[in-house]
Amino acid sequence: MTHAMPHHTDHTHGIHIHPSILSADFSRLAEELRRIDSADAVHVDVMDNHFVPNLTLGLPVVKALRNATELPLDLHLMIDDADRWAPEYADAGAESVTFHAEAAKAPIRLARELRSRGAQAGMALKPATAVEPYLDMLPELDLLLLMTVEPGFGGQPFLDVVLPKIRRAREALDGSGVPVALQVDGGITRETIMRAAEAGADVFVAGSAVYGADDPSAAIDELRRAPLH
Ligand code: DX5
Ligand code: ZN
Repeated sequence: MTHAMPHHTDHTHGIHIHPSILSADFSRLAEELRRIDSADAVHVDVMDNHFVPNLTLGLPVVKALRNATELPLDLHLMIDDADRWAPEYADAGAESVTFHAEAAKAPIRLARELRSRGAQAGMALKPATAVEPYLDMLPELDLLLLMTVEPGFGGQPFLDVVLPKIRRAREALDGSGVPVALQVDGGITRETIMRAAEAGADVFVAGSAVYGADDPSAAIDELRRAPLH
């Protein structure tokens, strides 16, 4: 994946906004998807009440979402037994499937399996999980997600303690030259997106900042412009 650089002077690697439907109205998801047509993709949080203390949606709803929008589906699997379930989400037509490193028994095999099923392979790290043990497997990935809140719930405050890890991941990615998107998820607002972008993130998940706004599409545009100011 390559990211276009803005024309003016800028230290970021591009700005891609993925609204999370976790903060949308679950009783009218198709309509909620139509309110974010300026998004780069829709972020779908799958939780199983085991990996995280919350339960959201699973394969049947992801398949319904696939039929309800043209937007790329960016799946974030907060589930145990990722090795067993993640490939089925790739088969459901998701553009990217992100599993948690903490939940995968064989992350390299799983990433290869996801790619072989036509999805981009993503791997997520909780805030306190170090990135260094995973740097050698970056070529196996299309996306690295560094959580900026403890996964499980929307509306939590951004954890600045993750910023040095974002910087180190960006340095490793630039040093190796492998084209891996660096995604952050949790507490992204017009204020915090600047810090995450400066640290090197280029894909930004935002739930409450988008769906908490009167006009979600305008909120997406404001997020996209915020780091450039
Ligand atoms: C949290 C989820 C996030 C959540 C973000 O575990 O992975 O995607 O929707 O919500 P905000 O943007 O409100 O922090
Ligand atoms: Zn998420």
